[in-house]
Amino acid sequence: MINQLKFYAKMAHKILSKDVIDHNDYGKEYDKIADTYQYWLKEMSRFTDRIIKSAYAANTEKPKVLDFACGTGYITRRLLEKETDCDITAVDISERMLHVCKDLADHGVNIVNADGIAFLNNTAERFDIIFCGWALPYFNYKVLLKGFKKVLNEGGIVGVISNSRGTLHKIEDIFVKVMMENQNEIVKPMDIRFNLPDGKEGLAKWFEQYGFACLEVHEEEVVFSFDRPEDLLDWINKTGAAAGTAQIFRDYDRVKGKIIKEIEREKCIKGRYSINHKFTYGLFKRS
Ligand SMILES: C[S@@+](CC[C@H](N)C(=O)[O-])C[C@H]1O[C@@H](n2cnc3c(N)ncnc32)[C@H](O)[C@@H]1O
Repeated sequence: MINQLKFYAKMAHKILSKDVIDHNDYGKEYDKIADTYQYWLKEMSRFTDRIIKSAYAANTEKPKVLDFACGTGYITRRLLEKETDCDITAVDISERMLHVCKDLADHGVNIVNADGIAFLNNTAERFDIIFCGWALPYFNYKVLLKGFKKVLNEGGIVGVISNSRGTLHKIEDIFVKVMMENQNEIVKPMDIRFNLPDGKEGLAKWFEQYGFACLEVHEEEVVFSFDRPEDLLDWINKTGAAAGTAQIFRDYDRVKGKIIKEIEREKCIKGRYSINHKFTYGLFKRS
């Protein structure tokens, strides 16, 4: 009990003093994930397609598009495939993710390796459409939406898809337990849960708070199932579904076995190990 109290006090102190996983840590994590991120795209990019809609494009002849936290460039690639006539800027903090899509520069895409918020603060450019695929929780939404508003032309659109509260059921509890039992291994905690929207209502509320009109908003859930707990952990590690968690620990490999044991204990149903991805997506217009 005392151990637990000490742990929570220490974590609360770190969170309050902002000694938490930050944008550089996420960048480092995605550098490692760059070569396996295609596993996520294989299963989940079909949902990303739902926000890539030209029907809402501003009445501009050649809209300026910002692919924000573009990763390996999935959204930009889809726009090019659809032969959408637009000027694209693609920004991401991870050098290795951008390395995978460096060929996009040959198609006129302006690729920028930068922290997204620094980019929004410093750019003098204005955009007609911003896409933000699977990256919302890496940002404080208040800072992010202010930044989006700043760089969007009037009537501009944001298309966003994001994990939402309730995703990766029990995974956070498992990590907290392993952290509590291995306190000497902790470098810093994660506070990402505060940045997960509460379903479609939560997402719409965030945007409306910052002066965006909701054009459409949806939510969904998919479940993947594995034979072994190792496979479940492997999925969340190589897809980036729990990006940042490895940076919590001094040496992730030293605690990995303990995480697998907890997954075995907490997630086994009839000999299978399932993981849910809850997400919400929508299109919002800057008034
Ligand atoms: C799940 S990937 C999404 C990639 C892409 N948007 C897609 O739909 O496939 C999340 C991306 O967010 C990027 N990211 C995280 N924090 C960032 C930050 N502060 N600034 C810019 N990019 C960031 C990561 O490097 C990673 O490429």
